[in-house]
Order: sequence, then C-alpha cells, then structure tokens
Amino acid sequence: MLLIKRAISLFQAVWEVIWHPRSLYFVLHNEDVFRRRIRTEFPGFEKGLPVVFIEDVVSKPLPVVETYSQLGGTSPAIDIALLMGIASEIPSCSYFEIGTWRGESVVNVSRVASACYTLNLDHAQQVAKGYSREAIAAAGFYLTNRNDILRLTGDSQSFDYQSLGRTFDLVFIDGDHHAQAVATDTRKVWCHLLHDRSIVVWHDYTRDQTEVFQEVLYGILGGVPARLHGHLYHVWGTNCAIYLPVAVEARSTENRFIPHHNFKIEIKHNPLDPSVLQPTPASFEARSEKGE
Ligand SMILES: C[S@@+](CC[C@H](N)C(=O)[O-])C[C@H]1O[C@@H](n2cnc3c(N)ncnc32)[C@H](O)[C@@H]1O
Repeated sequence: MLLIKRAISLFQAVWEVIWHPRSLYFVLHNEDVFRRRIRTEFPGFEKGLPVVFIEDVVSKPLPVVETYSQLGGTSPAIDIALLMGIASEIPSCSYFEIGTWRGESVVNVSRVASACYTLNLDHAQQVAKGYSREAIAAAGFYLTNRNDILRLTGDSQSFDYQSLGRTFDLVFIDGDHHAQAVATDTRKVWCHLLHDRSIVVWHDYTRDQTEVFQEVLYGILGGVPARLHGHLYHVWGTNCAIYLPVAVEARSTENRFIPHHNFKIEIKHNPLDPSVLQPTPASFEARSEKGE
C-alpha cells in the first residue's frame, strides 16, 4: 500500500515538473536538500552555527534605530541595531554592504560609521530579475541626497571589487540569498574586502530569529575558508550570522524558544512628509521609458 502511495506521489511530482518546469526550483531549493548537504559536506554544522549573545559582540548598549519603515524586505530593527553597535565600537569604522534596497541598513549604520559603501543591482538588472515595479520604485528610498554614502550599482556576483582598492572593517552580506550566490558573495568579500580584523555579518541566516535558513547556512559554509569555520556564530535574538576575527566562547542554548534577554522596545511613528514619497509611479514610468 505504501509503495503504491509513493508511486502515485512520484508520478504526480514528475507530471507537475513536466507541465510546470518552474516547480523544479522548489525541489532543488528545498530546505531538506541543503540540510542533507550540510550533513555530508560540513559535518558538525547539522544543528547550525554555535550561538553568541549580543553582549559577546557589542559591549555597550545598542544604538537607537531612527530611520525605519517597519515594512517588509528590510532587516528587523534589532539586526540593524547590531550592525550599528558593531560599527560604533570600531574607531572610524568603514562599512560595506551587499544588498541595499530602500537603504535602511546603510542609512542607520552611516550614523555611527565613517565610510559607508553599498552595492545593489542596477535598475535594468532588477527589471531583468523580475522584481515587481513597486519594489523597484522603492529602491534607494532613504538614500536621496545622501552623498556621504557611496552607492555602487551592479551584480555582486560579478562586481569588480578590486577596483575599490581598499578593505573594510565591517561587511554586511544581504543580497541574493540562494546558496550559490551567498557562497560567491562570501568568497569575493574574503578575496578583496577584508583585513585581518574585519567582521562579516550575513543576513537571513535564520527566519524569525530561531529557524536556521539551511540554504543560507550552506552558502556561508561554502564561502568561508574551512579553517575559519570555528569563527562563525549565530547572534542570538537576531537573524544574523557573524564571522569574528577572534573566536569567542559559544553559549549554550538548549531550547531556541526560551528567552535569554528582555528587550525594551520603544516605538515612535512619525508620518513622512508626502513630498518625500518618491519616486512616484509616474516618475518610475519615465525612468523605465528612458531605460534607466
Ligand atoms: C533584502 S534586500 C536588502 C535589504 C537591506 N540590506 C536592509 O536591511 O534594509 C536585498 C537587496 O539585494 C539586492 N540584490 C539581490 N541580488 C543581488 C546581486 N546579485 N547583486 C547586488 N544586489 C543584489 C536586491 O536588489 C535587494 O535590493
């Protein structure tokens, strides 16, 4: 009986893939696929990265996140505060990020860092990737007239990092979250952007701070040199994985749903001046027609 059920499921799956080839994507990018790969290729990481607490990484209270949309697609405020906390403890911190979108992470870090660079797909590349018109129109929302932040455009997978001719103290990887892309971004960052005290943070290592995103973990482990895997951690309470140049003692967290901290969260909501709500759909159409 079980065999017949399995044969029917297999037939249905093959039928689905033949008639809807896009379904194959969900087979190949299933979390179980990456869980198995981690088990065979990176034994010891089946349960994810060891955990550190925010206070193991940042000694002072986290800075306040003041520019935040509270809309989808950005990092949770705690993750941005973590980046700010790290940057604020590095004298004259230089920050590089892959993946800008509205600009919330970089615009907040810029309050505490001395130099901020951010790299994102250009307009045509976002269109080619099939991003929605609304998402594309929101790109760079917070970065208008922010000449202090260097906005680079291009595909992080093929970007010429060497042309920057410099390294950074803190690098945030938050672009394409497919395993291969995370691994390539990570390798390129390691090749071109780090010095021996640099810190690297990856976003979306977990979903909801608790559930490891296996595809991203597989990409991180594939990109970081194996001899440095012992320097990788999950920062508890955030969706971030972190590479620390000096290894620290990991925390024991048996149950991922038992809190270890109490967070005080103050929420102020200030309506934006309607004149800053741009680009409007009309200006977006104009840019599209010009091919920008
Ligand atoms: C999750 S958003 C970044 C959010 C931002 N870091 C924040 O915290 O507010 C991901 C961004 O990565 C960009 N992106 C995706 N693939 C990319 C690639 N290959 N090269 C450069 N940027 C990429 C997308 O256009 C999108 O803007």
